[in-house]
Amino acid sequence: MSRKNLKVCIVGTGYVGLTTGVCLAGIGHDVVCIDIDEKKIRMLKAGQSPIYEPGIEDLLKVAADKLSFTTQYTDCKDADVIILAVGTPSAKSGKADLSYMEAAVTEIVNYLHGEKFQVVVNKSTVPVGTAQRTEMIISSILHKQNRQANFAVASNPEFLREGLAVHDTFYPDRIVIGAKNTEALNSLRNMYAPLLEQTFAAPKACPRPEGFPLPALITTDVTSAEMIKYAANSFLATKISYINEISGLCEKVGADVTEVARGIGLDKRIGSRFLQAGVGWGGSCFGKDTAAIINTGLEYAYEMPIISAAVAVNKRQRSRMIEKLQESLKVVRGRTIGLLGLSFKPDTDDLRDAPALDIIRYLVEMGARVKAFDPIAMPNCKAYYPELAVEYTDDVLQLASGCDAVLLITEWDEFRRLPLEQLAERMTGSKVFVDGRNIVDPGVAQEAGLLYIGFGRSGYESGW
Ligand code: UGA
Repeated sequence: MSRKNLKVCIVGTGYVGLTTGVCLAGIGHDVVCIDIDEKKIRMLKAGQSPIYEPGIEDLLKVAADKLSFTTQYTDCKDADVIILAVGTPSAKSGKADLSYMEAAVTEIVNYLHGEKFQVVVNKSTVPVGTAQRTEMIISSILHKQNRQANFAVASNPEFLREGLAVHDTFYPDRIVIGAKNTEALNSLRNMYAPLLEQTFAAPKACPRPEGFPLPALITTDVTSAEMIKYAANSFLATKISYINEISGLCEKVGADVTEVARGIGLDKRIGSRFLQAGVGWGGSCFGKDTAAIINTGLEYAYEMPIISAAVAVNKRQRSRMIEKLQESLKVVRGRTIGLLGLSFKPDTDDLRDAPALDIIRYLVEMGARVKAFDPIAMPNCKAYYPELAVEYTDDVLQLASGCDAVLLITEWDEFRRLPLEQLAERMTGSKVFVDGRNIVDPGVAQEAGLLYIGFGRSGYESGW
């Protein structure tokens, strides 16, 4: 099949939409990014990314002639592919809220026509059945307007991780395309063709890591494609909760969970990734997607006890952090507690469902004075959670100053090389250090004068 550059419209400039947009432009397609948020579009037109994501601003420059940004849907008229990448937040019931999605679909119908074939792609994480529903909505609007269009709806879930979104888009493990229509399948195959070629040279901003394999292309039906996304995220969330459950028992019996994870992870059937015990998962995806898959099950009167337990274990990890603090300090009221890290993981300023938020709330309720330092996420925390009684600091030493305990919540790279002795010098009382990500060497921390407490590393706590 000969390859051609496509005209691609992307609706939604969040993590998924914007990353997909700049990367598709980076491989030569003509991309229009649409968002109803005028402020975001103004920033993007000025070459600034509204989100912190390594590589995006470089690509905005490199692929500038292939990219445009607008609040209008009119460009969808000439599009070969229209990608829906709007938010699908959790409603209170746990169901995914599809109102943004439906609003976007209602807009794009106006630009579907019969002159050429157009594919509407669901890239947002949407409940199983949404592609079919999207097709029904479009058909019913066209019917009402007494119009016809030459289109198909496909599902093309993404698996990118925040902080590594550009890398994951250029070098995914797999590309999943769910479509029953061959023309749609071919169009999307064409769109991704450069990524599937050995000779693919990504823009300088994101070179192929040495020895990195080509992605597998999985073509399947739409419903299975939708299910793949939920099953993948729920599995990853469950894997983390599994090692966290094991970490609790390690504490009881005197084992070290990092050793246990190493020992089981080398079994290729298990794999070593996503076995880091600690304060648990956060972010906009795992919580939302586990809730949504459980909810889909309930709609069919089908319980999902494993995934439900993974959610419960994750919640418990946040409380475990506080329990550990209480066990060591005894009295938390009136103490000064410092948080190292606020974002739900490193290399992002995203605070959605971040463990730090719950931990701050618990500490404030218990009467503690809370200080925090995060290399990137502090402005977001101030802006989105102004109600949190937190004293923000400029660096790790200022954070430690006067603290009875320091809690490491996010494994930012710079926290792997903390000046532990200087930290200890500035702290007070029993100088408790709770390592919520098990990234600090317990022996070195103790040598530096800290009372080290990890997750699932009980041997060290009893002075191993
Ligand atoms: C996750 C998935 O990894 C992506 O494949 C998926 O595309 C994305 O959701 C999505 O649905 O959009 P993300 O939420 O960016 O990506 O972050 P992860 O790197 O998966 O980390 C999630 C959470 O798990 C973080 O809070 C992290 O600290 C925690 N985690 C991760 C652990 O506690 N232990 C681990 O071993 C690994």
